[in-house]
Amino acid sequence: MSKIRFDERVAIVTGAGAGIGREYALELARRGAKVVVNDLGGARDGSGGNSSAADAVVSEIKKAGGEAVANYDNVATMSGGENIVKTAVNAFGKVDILINNAGILRDKSFLKMTEAEWDAVIAVHLKGAFCVTQPAAKAMKDNNYGRIIFTSSTSGLYGNFGQTNYGAAKMGVVGIMNTLKLEMAKYNVKVNAIAPTAYSRMTADVFPEEMGKKLQPKFNVPLVLYLCSEDNNETGRTYVMGAGWYGRTAVVCAEGACLGDAKRDISVEEIRESFSKIDKLEKAEPANSGADIFKYMGPLLS
Ligand code: NAI
Repeated sequence: MSKIRFDERVAIVTGAGAGIGREYALELARRGAKVVVNDLGGARDGSGGNSSAADAVVSEIKKAGGEAVANYDNVATMSGGENIVKTAVNAFGKVDILINNAGILRDKSFLKMTEAEWDAVIAVHLKGAFCVTQPAAKAMKDNNYGRIIFTSSTSGLYGNFGQTNYGAAKMGVVGIMNTLKLEMAKYNVKVNAIAPTAYSRMTADVFPEEMGKKLQPKFNVPLVLYLCSEDNNETGRTYVMGAGWYGRTAVVCAEGACLGDAKRDISVEEIRESFSKIDKLEKAEPANSGADIFKYMGPLLS
């Protein structure tokens, strides 16, 4: 089996000072990549910050003979994102791989959620994905090569009590991916989303400890690194994983029901009449762009 290597590749991992991000950074470096270890070093809720988290991972990589440089910028600002990318270009000359991984939590049931809790989570996960990815994508375009990962979550894809802010941001990054895969295709940039599962600072009070022992952050690494490798040709996909299980998830569109003739009015009662057909997911297929719905509308449009 030929080894997947990242020699001569430059990777940025945001939030790489702890948890899953740290594992990505260590394995990328072990496999030859030059790594920018970004981490603000704040608390789980995003408050505070210090350089020790990123520095510790950089020295771990260097001790093992790898190449890495630390960056302490906040992903949630444009200047932070630009500086993260500049750190890669100044130290190693380019950017080939970006793993958007940095994250915080401010859980609260929707009826109690404050504007500050909403804004903080959207800023790091959703705006942060824009702030880092835009300058990175510009650098990748210039090199006609790139691999971008957005970190989603089952909380956004499927829902989780107390996480409307987090879930909105995590589904939002899938929205960025859906369009970016189209815009970056001609520059040989593959863009994918992942929803990891790991026992980390973020989830230490969510998973029971026994289960936590099996949900090790390192089990998220192999699929994410495969998606970041030259071997990967998939783009616009979303994968879910944990404990050594890996699967694909997708937004699908079903056959539905064509009503009327695209001229006459359609009544609310006709919808009631056809609702079970409209609601059916049998034969649903993943949709790859907004244009995909026209195939279902076909009989009405021809
Ligand atoms: P973690 O809390 O262990 O690590 C997140 C890292 O991001 C921390 O080191 C933190 O300092 C850094 N960070 C936070 N805000 C930052 C900012 N503004 N700029 C730069 N760095 C910042 O969390 P974990 O579990 O490793 O999560 C990694 C990613 O995976 C996050 O995006 C999280 O939302 C996502 N995720 C994790 C799941 C899990 O089961 N642990 C489940 C689904 C998604």
